[in-house]
Amino acid sequence: MSLNIEKQAVAQSFGDAANDYDEYALIQHKIAQGLISISPKTINHSKAILDLGCGTGYCLPLLSEKYQTQNVTGADLSQGMLDYAQSHYPLFKYEMADAENLPFKDNQYDLIFSNFAVQWCDRFSQVLAEIYRCLAPGGQLVLSTLADGTLQELKQAWAQADDYQHVNDFEPASALMNVVDASEFDVALMNTKTEVHYYSTVRALTDSLKRIGAHNITSGRAKALTSPGTIKKFTKALESFRTEQGLPASYEVFTCVLSKPKIIS
Ligand SMILES: C[S@@+](CC[C@H](N)C(=O)[O-])C[C@H]1O[C@@H](n2cnc3c(N)ncnc32)[C@H](O)[C@@H]1O
Repeated sequence: MSLNIEKQAVAQSFGDAANDYDEYALIQHKIAQGLISISPKTINHSKAILDLGCGTGYCLPLLSEKYQTQNVTGADLSQGMLDYAQSHYPLFKYEMADAENLPFKDNQYDLIFSNFAVQWCDRFSQVLAEIYRCLAPGGQLVLSTLADGTLQELKQAWAQADDYQHVNDFEPASALMNVVDASEFDVALMNTKTEVHYYSTVRALTDSLKRIGAHNITSGRAKALTSPGTIKKFTKALESFRTEQGLPASYEVFTCVLSKPKIIS
């Protein structure tokens, strides 16, 4: 499946959101903490770490502390995010990078960490191949990404309101698993979990997606302003999902911990 992603728009959208991101990215922070806690206890060699799709950079000091090294690099497609990260966490190195075409040497990193970032890429297989190339033998990858089913309430509500695409497409979890299985990596852990975040109002839900830069960047999006009538239909449809806890936004989170074999046959 080839996803319809416009990388320039992705970089711009996240860059514009950099200042507000951490205040609104509650689910991203929660998953990042979980990912750091399941990261291997120790890593090899020089302890060179890459946070791929680092965003505002808040994981860099956490990784640095866990592995007792300052040799941590943040890489991201968005210059706006990198500028923010550099100004808040100046101890670390930063590099503009596309996860599908990494500007790093072979065997350069002992740990590559990536939280909620590679779902914006066209081909997960290409991302994994690039990560594999840049990891040293024995190096490890700890990654979370989003799978199909993510924001399904929003997707269904918009489908009742108009014919445009408002929610990005995500690969089915089974396809992500197949890509991992077909790779050269050894699999230590691989799972998919549904995380649901609740909002009090439709505005709170849609605003929070906008504030983290994760709103619609598909080519099937509406190019003009959405009419009040369409917004009314959308709001009514989304309200039909309301539970006692509020309006749900579901995230299908695919997680894996993989290692590059020490001896490559
Ligand atoms: C939802 S944010 C996650 C940021 C951070 N990892 C976190 O845990 O909050 C997604 C980040 O991935 C970056 N990104 C999107 N596509 C990318 C790509 N192809 N290569 C590298 N970074 C990418 C975006 O610019 C953005 O900063």
